Amino acid sequence: MNRQWLLAKRPYGVVGRENFEYRESPIPKIGDGEVLVRNLYFSFDPTQRGWMEDRESYLPPVPIGEPMRAGVIGQVTESNHPDYTSGDLVQTLGGWEDYFVARPGFSMMLTKLPAGADPAMVLSVLGTTGQTAYWGMLDLGKPQQGETLLVSGAAGATGSVAGQIGRIKGCRVVGIAGGEEKCAWLTEEAGFDAAIDYKSENVHARIGELCPNKVDIFFDNVGGDILEAALNHINLRARVVLCGGISSYNATSPIPGPSNLMNLVITRSRMEGFIVIDYLDRFAKAAEELTAWVQSGELVYQVDMQEGFENIPDTLNRLFTGQNRGKQLLRLGEPA
Ligand SMILES: NC(=O)c1ccc[n+]([C@@H]2O[C@H](COP(=O)([O-])OP(=O)(O)OC[C@H]3O[C@@H](n4cnc5c(N)ncnc54)[C@H](OP(=O)(O)O)[C@@H]3O)[C@@H](O)[C@H]2O)c1
Repeated sequence: MNRQWLLAKRPYGVVGRENFEYRESPIPKIGDGEVLVRNLYFSFDPTQRGWMEDRESYLPPVPIGEPMRAGVIGQVTESNHPDYTSGDLVQTLGGWEDYFVARPGFSMMLTKLPAGADPAMVLSVLGTTGQTAYWGMLDLGKPQQGETLLVSGAAGATGSVAGQIGRIKGCRVVGIAGGEEKCAWLTEEAGFDAAIDYKSENVHARIGELCPNKVDIFFDNVGGDILEAALNHINLRARVVLCGGISSYNATSPIPGPSNLMNLVITRSRMEGFIVIDYLDRFAKAAEELTAWVQSGELVYQVDMQEGFENIPDTLNRLFTGQNRGKQLLRLGEPA
């Protein structure tokens, strides 16, 4: 039996179970050159909310009636392809279902995991979020020794790695996150110099206090009021890295822009967005360096592992309520 969560309805505001339909169908059969994969781990990413909408983006919308798209790690259970054998662990962009048929090289990339690789690590610090932090910081943020780095969404999968890369490169690092517990994790475990709890503190005032030399790099995952507050404190020739804007992903009306964009002009600063898939051909290089930092203890990361097929739709919303502690994953089972 192949269990599936299909996209049933495009979202308006917060996503709920009503946006998905549960279906059971027979396990698909494979043809020539095809591979049958059993999904074991699902990655949850705020961008999935955007994929559900019917609008142009960097990937086409998920069609209604199709399994919800997700980053997955699975195990090959049957193969008619010379490069894959039963038992191989593979990573790809799949869907919310137990099994899927892959046609490697033709319709999809199916990347084999190296022997002994930890799937949770591959989907977190070495996966899309770690890669996003790496390339956003190094290619756009360009951290220099002694500079001040401010990160929003700082306790999350991307933000926590971005901040630590800044610390490794010699920056003073200040994180913005929701709640005392996340702020304590940033300063006590992740080596941030200071943290601002945006839920209980005045963000604008606290950035002023904690960044006395102003902000050279702002790595923004949140947008909205937090972006506006940060722009009030940018230094000459600052780099504002627009990684995401999660505060507006569930918005039901147009979002006001920051009222202080002129600060970019006055400070001769650069504000630039990016999408990590543009760096796909260099992921291996980043993975090597990220692995070395993890092994040396310079880089820590958290994985929030949920369980159970029935919990898949609700797990996506943990990213928007801030319940997740680090990279949000869900495990269906272990490799056979
Ligand atoms: N550009 C790219 O290629 C790329 C790639 C991957 C991810 N991203 C972006 O990176 C950001 C982080 O993604 P992630 O996967 O690492 O998720 P994450 O940070 O691990 O989880 C999302 C976090 O966002 C915070 N949040 C949710 N709603 C918020 C709101 N209204 N205001 C402020 N904070 C809010 C919550 O933290 P608190 O508890 O602190 O509120 C939550 O834990 C997202 O914006 C995502 O779209 C971009």
